[in-house]
Amino acid sequence: MNTAATTRIRAVDVIRKKREGGELSREEIEAIVLGYTRGEIPDYQTAAWLMAAFLRSFTTAETAALTDVMLRSGEVLDLSEFPAPKIDKHSTGGVGDKTSLVLAPVAAAGGLVVPMISGRGLGHTGGTLDKLESIPGFNVNLSVADFRRVLQACGCAMIGQTAEIAPADRKLYALRDVTSTVESPYLICASIMSKKLAEGIDGLVLDVKTGSGAFMKKEVHAVFLAELMVETGERMGKKMMALITDMDQPLGRYVGNALEVQEVVEVLQGRGPEDLRQLCSELAGSMFFLGGITRTVAEGRKLSDQLIASGKALGKFREMVTLQDGDVGAIDDPRRLPQPQHRFDVISSASGYVEAIQCESVGTACVVLGGGRERKEDSVDPSVGIVLHKKVADAVAKGEALCTVLYNSEDRATHAKQLLKAAFRISEARPMNVPPLVHQVIGQSGELN
Ligand code: URA
Repeated sequence: MNTAATTRIRAVDVIRKKREGGELSREEIEAIVLGYTRGEIPDYQTAAWLMAAFLRSFTTAETAALTDVMLRSGEVLDLSEFPAPKIDKHSTGGVGDKTSLVLAPVAAAGGLVVPMISGRGLGHTGGTLDKLESIPGFNVNLSVADFRRVLQACGCAMIGQTAEIAPADRKLYALRDVTSTVESPYLICASIMSKKLAEGIDGLVLDVKTGSGAFMKKEVHAVFLAELMVETGERMGKKMMALITDMDQPLGRYVGNALEVQEVVEVLQGRGPEDLRQLCSELAGSMFFLGGITRTVAEGRKLSDQLIASGKALGKFREMVTLQDGDVGAIDDPRRLPQPQHRFDVISSASGYVEAIQCESVGTACVVLGGGRERKEDSVDPSVGIVLHKKVADAVAKGEALCTVLYNSEDRATHAKQLLKAAFRISEARPMNVPPLVHQVIGQSGELN
């Protein structure tokens, strides 16, 4: 008798084994992940398994198996009909981190193909898909055939995990968002790399965040995660590069879905806040270097700056929005993006300098306002958010506005206000050590200067 064929793996046994710290076999991981993806294992058992995995962690072999099972839960695209280098970028998640929306059109305008599969808001961080959907009509749920059609037409396309591509991540991601099981390097690695390896890319630039608004608060943990993902990608024959970047305060000035689209357009118009522009330039430079379009990252940065200054990158963004059924009028006139009913300022109760901004609290305030989800079924309110008037090291006078809150519900706004008031630390002296935007680079040696 073939015992292997007759032994059924029960979810409850796999949960218990992980709860006790055991190492799971590929078959056990497959049973949970594919069982959940097919709808055979319910949310509650998968959530219990995720929490056990989160608390007990994974070995290297388990992480490799999880990534592979999630990758093979759907189709792996073959984009060999595209002669240009296929390079993508993915961030581990931040607050006000809208760089993907800038980078896809910049990279495509510079000759790369960018088949970008992104996620929704996760925990306190915002998601590329939620931001894109604040553009009226924008469709992030393209079929594989339409995804290829948009890529052929304009060189970049931005979609979510689908029933065809990375379906396991589509379901697990939504469950992790609302069960406090995000901040595990092993789960993050499998989630990101399963999506990215399904895209049929030649190379990937990772933006691994560190600081109070990141999932990896300490740099040593961010480096660990970056190395895990770089090794996973290189094992699969991909060119990999990871930038460890600062998330100790929100990126740019706008946090919230429609607000962030507005800031993206400003950057593509050659305006926008300096930190966001600089990070976009670093990441685009790395993408051009990795794809062999430029010889160095520095040349890549220059190319990125030229593509923005010439208006080519904005033109590419408008093209992609049109091809994905979005209202391009909302790109040209941000008043056509969803607008909130109310707004108020959060006022500084002291004079001095902004010493720190607890960045996770700003992200949580945006979720509380309705910009993210507290349950899987929730829809997001694209119009709410926070406009930051002060960032770290800025001078502030007592009574001056630190930020403005855009909202639609009084209850939610009251909670957000408490979080935001506590998030700003004001000191008498200007802080001396504001961290650099890029802390370090891991992987391919594209010198930064
Ligand atoms: N981004 C992802 O796609 N997955 C994670 O788990 C975290 C960030």
